[in-house]
Amino acid sequence: MSQHIHHDIVIIGAGAAGLTLALELANEHNVAILTKGDIAEGSTLYAQGGVAAVLSEKDTVDSHVQDTIVAGAELGDQEAIRFTVEHSKESIDWLIDQGVPFTRYGDDDSYHLTKEGGHSHRRIIHAADATGLAISETLVKNALAHENIHFYPDRVAVDLITTQKLGLSGENRVIGLYALNQSSEEVEVFHAQRVALATGGSSKVYLYTSNPDTASGDGIAMAWRAGCRVGNMEFNQFHPTCLYDAKAKTFLISEAVRGEGGRLLLPDGTRFMFNFDERGELAPRDIVARAIDHEMKRLGVKHVLLDISHKDPEFIKEHFPTIYKRCLSFGHDMTKGPIPVVPAAHYTCGGVVVDQFGATDVKDLYAIGETSYTGLHGANRLASNSLLECIVYARSAAQQILSDNALRDSYQIPDWDASKVTNSDEDVVITHNWHELRRFMWDYVGIVRTNKRLLRAKHRVDLLLSEIDEFYSNYRVTADLLELRNLAVVADLIIQSAMARKESRGLHFTLDYPEKLKQSEPTILKPRIRSSELANQAAFERKA
Ligand code: FAD
Ligand code: SIN
Repeated sequence: MSQHIHHDIVIIGAGAAGLTLALELANEHNVAILTKGDIAEGSTLYAQGGVAAVLSEKDTVDSHVQDTIVAGAELGDQEAIRFTVEHSKESIDWLIDQGVPFTRYGDDDSYHLTKEGGHSHRRIIHAADATGLAISETLVKNALAHENIHFYPDRVAVDLITTQKLGLSGENRVIGLYALNQSSEEVEVFHAQRVALATGGSSKVYLYTSNPDTASGDGIAMAWRAGCRVGNMEFNQFHPTCLYDAKAKTFLISEAVRGEGGRLLLPDGTRFMFNFDERGELAPRDIVARAIDHEMKRLGVKHVLLDISHKDPEFIKEHFPTIYKRCLSFGHDMTKGPIPVVPAAHYTCGGVVVDQFGATDVKDLYAIGETSYTGLHGANRLASNSLLECIVYARSAAQQILSDNALRDSYQIPDWDASKVTNSDEDVVITHNWHELRRFMWDYVGIVRTNKRLLRAKHRVDLLLSEIDEFYSNYRVTADLLELRNLAVVADLIIQSAMARKESRGLHFTLDYPEKLKQSEPTILKPRIRSSELANQAAFERKA
């Protein structure tokens, strides 16, 4: 017998997006928040640079809109961009009201605004170089204190339950979800009138990433299996500067370091970014990451260098305390000399297609934050526009939910049936496939692509998908298996989208079509029943 848990609204994820939605709804609704592991773990916790917003009198909405359009290689949705930027100031005011301790500076103690690549003004509000930690700590504290918000940590959402999956007629609606309780190892049934996917991105699909382990694209894969469209999955952003050190795993060196004067150098000390773009180190990320990749391949070196040691050491320690200390712990003193850096997968620009309220194609299902595709980022995200998008769209979704009082039917949801599955005696299949998937995505679907590489990746992902489906149908679910299953779906969506784009634009660069087309559209994929999905469906029906 599965445990059945009832809430008005279930939010999957406690990053900036999920927590904002919960806090905005909790005075009216009984809200559950599920997280895979610890409550705070997720990309939000590690965000460094800050949140982009029009806050200075010298800045304008038009300027921020224009910078977003340019960084997104003219593929962004202009309405979504304007909507987001127009709501930027009130979103920052909301965070300040919640108590987020943004850095103040100067004689008048006003909020300090830093600069990042692609921005024509100083407009990044931040809490030193640990903005995500400040946001997460503040919002988690407020949510824990709210009597209507109930946390369920260590739960891995498995799949959404929709009326269509239960074989009911009428409009396809979400009515709950199955989630694996990692402590009891049982799958629980959550019943809800509405579900919000706030599960973050999918950069874990690549071997090298700045992201924490939570970023396995679960929300995107679940939405796809539930019948939602996904958009622009070919545009995965590679951050130009992660610390290159075997012991560091992946540690981001904020773009704000370049914003405050950091220079990119070749191993012999030559500055090179101006050979690629007149904006030098502050060109948009796609250009900087590609330039570094080019130079590394040309010279056969494992990293380039980032140098800010020409600035006053006190300035460096005050602005970048976290980065300074972390680099020092690995033996790199950024006040004294350059540090080694490489690009790594950082951000999923595409995701679940939503409208201005975060509503998806399935009724009562919302997607917010990095898991969604709102149209804001186009072919490349402008630095620090992500946290902004999390707050703007979570608040907008909340407004829509609060204004809709229509009563919803309640449904009988079947228990999770694990009676026909056994414990796996072949876990090596999971670890092997996990590694293989992330390796070929890095090698074949990375910063520079070709038709041949994409085709190779497609053959491999098709094989993995069928192996994983078989495994999923026969063995008891584990967190690793669920993540691998979702990563394979996301990898397939990225490859399909990349194959469909016959040009180079923003983050999608292919040697076979190196030019940007005059006219271009976002890549929108519609779920259709293919053989592998039929297998998924069969597995679902067997369990449900
Ligand atoms: P996340 O914060 O990633 O949270 C995801 C949540 O979903 C987690 O709680 C996780 O447990 C949960 N979850 C996932 N799958 C499941 C599942 N199956 N079941 C249950 N729970 C699940 N952006 C900026 O704008 N400015 C910055 O300065 C900045 N710096 C960054 C630095 C780093 C190192 C990284 C990695 C990203 C940075 N970004 C930055 C990007 C930004 O941090 C993220 O895009 C944003 O925080 C995403 O927030 P989110 O709420 O969508 O998801
Ligand atoms: C950074 O601090 O460089 C990350 C900013 C971002 O991802 O927007």
